[in-house]
Amino acid sequence: MASSVAVINCSQLVTLAGPARPRVGPEMRELSIVVEGAMLVVGERIAQVGARGEIEPLIETRGADCEVIDAGGRVVMPGCIDAHTHPVFAGTRVNEFEERAAGATYQEIAARGGGIQSTVRATREATLDELVGAGKRYADWFLRTGTTTIEAKSGYGLTLEDELKILRAIKRLDEETPLRYVPTFLGAHDIPTEYKSRREQYVSLLLDEMLPRVAQEELAEYCDVFCEDRVFTNDESWKILSAARDHGFGLRMHADQLTLSGGAKLAAELGTVTADHLEHTDAAGIQALKSGGVQPVLLPGSVYALGSSHYPAAREMIDAGLAVVLATDFNPGSSPTTSMPMILSLACTHMKMTPAEGITASTINAAYTLSRGDQIGSLQPAKLADFVIHDCGDYRELAYFFGIEHPWKVYAAGRSVYERSVSIQNRER
Ligand code: NIG
Ligand code: FE
Repeated sequence: MASSVAVINCSQLVTLAGPARPRVGPEMRELSIVVEGAMLVVGERIAQVGARGEIEPLIETRGADCEVIDAGGRVVMPGCIDAHTHPVFAGTRVNEFEERAAGATYQEIAARGGGIQSTVRATREATLDELVGAGKRYADWFLRTGTTTIEAKSGYGLTLEDELKILRAIKRLDEETPLRYVPTFLGAHDIPTEYKSRREQYVSLLLDEMLPRVAQEELAEYCDVFCEDRVFTNDESWKILSAARDHGFGLRMHADQLTLSGGAKLAAELGTVTADHLEHTDAAGIQALKSGGVQPVLLPGSVYALGSSHYPAAREMIDAGLAVVLATDFNPGSSPTTSMPMILSLACTHMKMTPAEGITASTINAAYTLSRGDQIGSLQPAKLADFVIHDCGDYRELAYFFGIEHPWKVYAAGRSVYERSVSIQNRER
């Protein structure tokens, strides 16, 4: 018999059971909570969820084979799915952080060769092992803040070999840590310094060498482009993403982050899976996303960390029927956090999303952007048992108490991957 784990005594078992598609409009507030719930996991997958009375007889049948975890009246919910991260890079940008505190802007720093280019320099110098080592530190942070799957972009190499090195690091991190990684090729993250005066040659390199090689080595499932004033133009983004589609990649796009540059409309015309950031997207852009069936991925951590107050129009997007997603944008420049609970706090405080909408946006809706809506993102029989026992009795506390770590225990594919160490008191709730 496969080994099994049962979780009992959950104040709220937040299942997110519902239609097998991304949730829109009022559906985003429906979390399908089982009060006083319990769950049985067999091997890697969820076998059953329900009221304690329904699950207990199943536990008894399994006898000593079943490890019973008493959640102690805590909230149990799916592991968060972070659908936009840049988790493989060398060094930090703590110097630039200090400069920004003294008044410099992100764009000014980038214009003088800092920003993404400074991380590119450090990452090119790092070995594969060094990148994996740094990545493991961040994998721990994702898990301990309650995330079990991330979308992981390359983009700090910007040469064929350095982009391959980053994608190989992502592959190793997926194999060597309990965190699940979904790889995205972001060779179009910036025009590298050595190509600034001949940018068309860098676009050719992307089209003729990098995309074919990444496809051939099967190192990425998605391709992304930073479409922005002074980075990749709409025409260049169109070319790169069209070629990526021909190679079989799913498409994502950094759009309208720093300026309204028609990114959302372009994403809609291309039919990308997601358009990400969207801080400057207007009503016409929102309508375009709706007609194109594009899911918005909103990244309030980067707005906060850049000291801006220009958050994306989440309410208008939800009201327009878009299947909104929230993510950290974890990266060393604009969003140095792995914490989805922090993102939930920002979404509720600054974007007027409700805590329930925030949780839908961080789990099931995110899963569908990674083509894994049938495997993860909700607690339903046959799905992978990726779940978190949070140290609170009401799911809304995840967004309400900010700046603290909520997870008490974290499981990925039925295996314990994080447990908070006992401090002053090991109390029952
Ligand atoms: O999503 N917008 C482009 N890329 C990242 C920033 C990366 C960096 O500053 O290193 C972002 O915000
Ligand atoms: Fe990003």
